[in-house]
Amino acid sequence: MDTQALRNDTPGCSLHIHLNNAGASLQPMPVIQAVQDYLTEESLHGGYEVAAKHAAQIAGFYDATASLLNAHAHNIAFAGSATDAYFRALSSIPFEPGDVLLTTDDDYVSNQIAFLFLQKRFKIKLLRAEKLPEGGVDPQSVNELMDAHQPKLVAVTHVPTNSGLVQDVEAVGQLCQERDVWYLVDACQSAGQMPLDVAKIGCDFLSATMRKWLRGPRGAGFLYVSDLALGAGFEPIFPDMAGGVWVEPDHYELEKSAKRFEQWEKNYALVLGSKAAIEYANNLGLEAIEGAVTGLADYTRSQLSALPGVRVLDRGVQKCGIVTAHFKGKTPAAVKKALDDANIHAGIGTATNAQIDFTEKGVGWALRLSPHYFNTTAEIDTTIQVLSRIL
Ligand SMILES: Cc1ncc(COP(=O)(O)O)c(C=O)c1O
Repeated sequence: MDTQALRNDTPGCSLHIHLNNAGASLQPMPVIQAVQDYLTEESLHGGYEVAAKHAAQIAGFYDATASLLNAHAHNIAFAGSATDAYFRALSSIPFEPGDVLLTTDDDYVSNQIAFLFLQKRFKIKLLRAEKLPEGGVDPQSVNELMDAHQPKLVAVTHVPTNSGLVQDVEAVGQLCQERDVWYLVDACQSAGQMPLDVAKIGCDFLSATMRKWLRGPRGAGFLYVSDLALGAGFEPIFPDMAGGVWVEPDHYELEKSAKRFEQWEKNYALVLGSKAAIEYANNLGLEAIEGAVTGLADYTRSQLSALPGVRVLDRGVQKCGIVTAHFKGKTPAAVKKALDDANIHAGIGTATNAQIDFTEKGVGWALRLSPHYFNTTAEIDTTIQVLSRIL
């Protein structure tokens, strides 16, 4: 990868050390341009007219996303965020009281809250599989729980928000396929930092956001829906006129493609910004991106673990671009301030994001550094120097 060329293409790189790509990344020029140009045109010529003019480009969003995931354009829905996409998928599962939803300890906070809500409102039963000794869901435990409880849905977060863990979504997918169990994958933190192949994962739904590793705009995400789930007639709670056609006073016909999971009204500037971001990632190649990201993350972990009083918290057979660490005797505010003062962008994770994981690790908070391919080892070195000064 030509890191300098990629940095030149990213105006924010010259302004900050941006190590918060798991929060929201810096957008490259093609994304910035796509959003700004569309908004300008829309302000001058009218929303409906400009959308009609750009219909072919807008359709390109579905093609680009399909090629990112090894899917087809008809399997893709645009969404307002990863959570929006995820909740639309979750709302389409026809849960009955007593049905089992099987998930993991490392699933995302908002997903866990939604599962607890389903348990409270619809009396479903929530189960979480055991972990491997190294961390991450144990496929053997998933297997046993599936045999014992016949879940209606298995839901796994590929990469949690609060650590560098990568969960084995393919192993779980194989178990779901063997038993015809619906499978929902949260790929919010993996999309854009590593290759994703929905055929290999074997999922029925996969959700992601645009602003993180894909470097797209905020307020945008997508949902993949398998042919099996489309064929089964799954639809989100409250489809609108994008999801169905009102053909008779008491009847609507469901949209055939995954667009049935969209709402009619959307921000087309963000659709085109998303298209530009996904094409940018596809052109760079997800294997190359993963190599660069994990290289920088491994370097960050090794430098951090050499600091006295710092504990790197990431576990798992496979680790990714999220690096988390705890600083003994320091407050998260002090660590964040030191970085802010040095113009270094980072995240702080709290126990409310990771009730199970942080309790097991015995920490109440963690610093999260998430380098992308445009970051450099020199930026990591500067960050380590700043952190070592507060220790
Ligand atoms: C693993 C994971 N899933 C889902 C989300 C939610 O994404 P969004 O804020 O786009 O809804 C996040 C956000 O941090 C995340 O880390």
